[in-house]
Amino acid sequence: MEFSELINKRYSVRAYRPDPIQQQDLQQVLEAARLAPTAANRQPFQLIVIKTQGREADLNRIYDEEWFVEAPLVVCMCALPTDAWARKDGKNYADVDATIAMDHLILAAANLGLGTCWIAAFDPAAAREVLRLPDEVEPVAFTPLGYPADQPKTKKRKDVSQLVRYEGW
Ligand SMILES: Cc1cc2nc3c(=O)[nH]c(=O)nc-3n(C[C@H](O)[C@H](O)[C@H](O)COP(=O)(O)O)c2cc1C
Repeated sequence: MEFSELINKRYSVRAYRPDPIQQQDLQQVLEAARLAPTAANRQPFQLIVIKTQGREADLNRIYDEEWFVEAPLVVCMCALPTDAWARKDGKNYADVDATIAMDHLILAAANLGLGTCWIAAFDPAAAREVLRLPDEVEPVAFTPLGYPADQPKTKKRKDVSQLVRYEGW
């Protein structure tokens, strides 16, 4: 797929088919996250890949939407702030690094016809308990991973003039 077509085609999928994901497709999606750039190349993230089958009740404690557990897999992106690069003023870039890697994963999935949906509105305490996360591991975002059972809607976005300021041109 052309990159610009991929960017247009990716959308938040909120209905999934239960069809399994080929192992090589999963590996390709995870590889895209692995190759993402990170500040000072610290790679301060961990991905947790969860099979939904039989875990529906646990997963719905984390995010209470039926479609969250429809796909065969759910992926949790975690940041590791203690491993991350920090700026001179102390700003820690773990969340930025984890987010870039997650976006790589999401675009690689779309390239293979797989659906995803960024989920930040999850219950962090439930995520910590269900996934047995140690204190230093920070869940940043979840996504289901599976074949879409819905259709994309027209993208609503601000005009580029509202988003971009050309300075000193
Ligand atoms: C950081 C982030 C967090 C999001 N959290 C949620 C969420 O918790 N639940 C949800 O249904 N969608 C969530 N979304 C999806 C957005 O609503 C969606 O990306 C936006 O409306 C644009 O639509 P599109 O992804 O179909 O282009 C999130 C997106 C991002 C980038």
